[in-house]
Amino acid sequence: MARKPAPKPARARAEPVIGSAAVMQLLVSQMQDAYSAETQALEAYPAMLEATTSDSLRKAFEEHAEESKTQVDRLERALGLLDSNPGDTHCQGMQGLIEEAREQLQEHAPGPLLDVVLIAAAQRLEHYEIAGYGTMATLAEDLGEADVAELLEEILDEEKAADKRLSLLADEEINAAALGEDEEEDEDADEAADEEEEEE
Ligand SMILES: [Fe+2]
Ligand SMILES: [Fe+2]
Repeated sequence: MARKPAPKPARARAEPVIGSAAVMQLLVSQMQDAYSAETQALEAYPAMLEATTSDSLRKAFEEHAEESKTQVDRLERALGLLDSNPGDTHCQGMQGLIEEAREQLQEHAPGPLLDVVLIAAAQRLEHYEIAGYGTMATLAEDLGEADVAELLEEILDEEKAADKRLSLLADEEINAAALGEDEEEDEDADEAADEEEEEE
């Protein structure tokens, strides 16, 4: 006769953890995760730089890569202010975003369409960072860590600016190039629209 499986021991219900020490620990681990995300992004930039054929996109990537180096320093400083350090956390979210970007890079030959792909990948990265720094800055503020909050907000502003720059580049240059629209045609269309408006 088959033996009945032993009954599972009743699991003690965990008490919810609250309090500033627990929230502080959460903030520190999110900052360590962000540190890992930044260092992974820094390693990914050279491939993106090499892949683009647009001077303005290359410049945007170069400048944000430089900015990212100072963000790594600021995160280190902010962690120091909380008596902590970057630790050895590995951010799997950023790893996934970068892996996906790499795959897509391989699917396209250099040119305007690849530049669209690069912008799409880079903006995903920026939005991931924006979400993280927004949460962290608010947590730091609510914990009364004004200096830490300020450092995180500085980074947040840079991420938002980087994202906006990419949106503008897509809108003003890269998407049109991928669509095969030439600028003169656009100008002609603008002029025609202006003339129409004047006639009215
Ligand atoms: Fe960053
Ligand atoms: Fe960024």
